[in-house]
Amino acid sequence: MTAINEVTDLSREGEIALITLNSPPVNALSAKVRDGLAEAFRQAIADREAKAIVLICEGKTFIAGADITEFGKPPKGTSLLDLEDIIEGAPKPVIAAIHGTALGGGLEVALCAHYRVAVPSARCGLPEVNIGLLPGAGGTQRLPRIVGPEMALDMVTSGRHVPAKQSLEVGLVDELAPEEQLRDAAIAFTRKVVAENRPLRKVRDSNEKVEAARGHPEIFANFRKENARRFRGLKAPENNIQCIEAAVNLPFEQGLKEERRLFVELFQDSQSRAQQYVFFAEREVWKIPDVPPDTPTIPVNKVGIVGAGTMGGGIAMNFANAGIPVTLVEAKQEALDRGLSVIRRNYENTAKKGRMTAADVEKRMSLLKGSMALEDLADSDLVIEAVFENMDIKKEVFGKLDQIVKPGAVLATNTSYLDTDEIASATKRPESVIGLHFFSPANVMRLLEVVRADKTSKPVVATSMQIAKKIGKIAALVGVCPGFVGNRMLAQRQREAQKLVMEGAMPWDVDRVLYDFGFPMGPFQMSDLAGLDIGWSKESSKGATIREVLCEMDRRGQKTGAGFYDYDENRNAKPSPVTAKIIEDFRAKSGTNVRQISDEEILERCIYPTINEGAKILEEGKAIRASDIDVVWINGYGWPKYRGGPMWYGDLIGLDKVLGRMREWQAQMGDVFAPSKLLEQLVTDGKAFTRPK
Ligand code: 3HC
Ligand code: NAI
Repeated sequence: MTAINEVTDLSREGEIALITLNSPPVNALSAKVRDGLAEAFRQAIADREAKAIVLICEGKTFIAGADITEFGKPPKGTSLLDLEDIIEGAPKPVIAAIHGTALGGGLEVALCAHYRVAVPSARCGLPEVNIGLLPGAGGTQRLPRIVGPEMALDMVTSGRHVPAKQSLEVGLVDELAPEEQLRDAAIAFTRKVVAENRPLRKVRDSNEKVEAARGHPEIFANFRKENARRFRGLKAPENNIQCIEAAVNLPFEQGLKEERRLFVELFQDSQSRAQQYVFFAEREVWKIPDVPPDTPTIPVNKVGIVGAGTMGGGIAMNFANAGIPVTLVEAKQEALDRGLSVIRRNYENTAKKGRMTAADVEKRMSLLKGSMALEDLADSDLVIEAVFENMDIKKEVFGKLDQIVKPGAVLATNTSYLDTDEIASATKRPESVIGLHFFSPANVMRLLEVVRADKTSKPVVATSMQIAKKIGKIAALVGVCPGFVGNRMLAQRQREAQKLVMEGAMPWDVDRVLYDFGFPMGPFQMSDLAGLDIGWSKESSKGATIREVLCEMDRRGQKTGAGFYDYDENRNAKPSPVTAKIIEDFRAKSGTNVRQISDEEILERCIYPTINEGAKILEEGKAIRASDIDVVWINGYGWPKYRGGPMWYGDLIGLDKVLGRMREWQAQMGDVFAPSKLLEQLVTDGKAFTRPK
């Protein structure tokens, strides 16, 4: 065995040269890796005794792509395209042996090999679109030559990982190897290739599938049309599509040039920088400085949930989906029956759409047990309270749980706004109490705010983060304050949206501006969807706000066919003259000076105070990092990922600009716009929330 460099080894098994790459954590194609591989291939090619070459990786995966940390830095070492030329141009067969994931540049390298062998658990994909890019090392030109343009379009625009079995069916992989025996199986396969004198198969020369699609522009037109909603606002999907079009319409070398041009275009755009930032932010968010990875955790094999309403039911589904049994405790039998039947209906709807079998439905339902007695939660490892948002009720529940549940269990509350410290004080074990703030619908939304109270112990924090991962959530650790991170910032936007309406904008103007910014919907559409009567009661309603008047008129949102908007039978929204009249009356009554409000002002008034509040949250230590706040907004509030999150966006547009506007508005409209100290400090120091300037 020869060590080529720190990450690459070259050895020989009889007449087969074996190049082994070992660059943890994911064998990304850093300069070191590219240099090591290029040299190893050169030597293996020069070795007269070697009749063929196998490329295999150590660790958990085959090459998972280019090294994203190198992006934006001056290029160093062998280029990926030069490395690929060496591999594809080798005068002897090259076989890629794949385990884990062959992703992005990793799959592009494998596509330059003449044959590919993979274990059944391996997956192949070109996920560059998820970081705002396209496969820039020939992937868009080679992939459609193997799988055809239709499947290539799907793969490059979704970034999905194709399982080995399907990869074999579509020709991405030539043979499956038994699990854990990849090395031996790849060598055996390679011996066969040598013995049978199989040709040096180059994907670039295989034109049949792309030629068949030539002269059929409708393939692309239809694809764009069908996916327009999914791709809204994003630049990368379109450039990826154009690359596949180029593969169909141009000779290989020209296609490569077009791929390069479209890659550079994306690479220089702020969208891809935002998406790369989000990629790392979503990994960083799990790291808690004072709770190291070796912190002991509590095994969670049994979960109890108190309250089977909107949230309790959705939360229960998360655990059942992960195979963890749940006991749901309710105060009223009919609420329990309703809760369980809603869960069943949700699962059955999923089954109807073909995303689950009838047996899966029964299996998950069998993990859910209903009860009317908190005593049934005695042996739970984790209990999540999701009863009404009322401090007295919550404290009563926690007082009882303290008496009943075994010592050491995690006691969590799903409160949206209430003080977690006060809830914890209802127990004699505040160290076991934490907030687990799920978002609605809890079985769908990826975000979980983990709320660390004053006395919460480190193992309880570590256990909460671990269980979040297990149920497929992305968790951000936040501190106790009203609304925590997400809702506290959202309150700023809601307040400004309402004020803008009083000053002269219409709800549909505000919604349009935020929709065009990239949110799935604006604040008024969101209120109509959630129901305007949340927290409203007929008895105490005094017609004091636009919302109260709408509720009194039974315009309570989509569910009643009208709210801020009018809805047709298909729930299509139309601006409502009734709402417009109510607004007009309110404006007249309040005597505000109604004026024309530009789209730019709407956007700034909704977004800048949100960023400012994020800065206050950081200043108070209620979030660990600015990037955690961005993770919250992207995964819980529909902030467009290609705009990086509010804090990143603040950096992009310039914190001096945000601060300038906050000061201006503070002078005009008062202290709700008071800038955060941190924001002022950063501007003074010429620094940013998320990146050093
Ligand atoms: N570059 C640099 N670092 C990477 C990386 C990459 N491509 N992929 C993963 N990492 C790092 C992560 O940041 C993380 O670091 P940390 O431990 O310090 O936080 C570590 O590797 C482990 O990653 P995960 O926590 O994500 O590990 P998982 O086991 O959950 O997932 C994975 C592994 C499926 C490979 C996942 O990391 C992944 O999807 N990676 C990105 C793949 C990708 O986007 N590839 C395309 C890159 S762009 C490209 O190739 C351009 C080319 O076309 C020219
Ligand atoms: P909900 O009203 O739909 O459900 C509450 C359920 O708790 C009811 O079924 C009720 O019968 C039951 N309950 C009340 N007291 C009980 C007791 N002592 N023992 C057992 N069960 C009891 O309310 P929802 O929307 O599910 O909210 C629950 C909690 O989740 C609240 O704290 C809320 O703030 C929070 N939350 C709500 C979100 C939402 O969008 N609805 C989002 C995130 C958090």
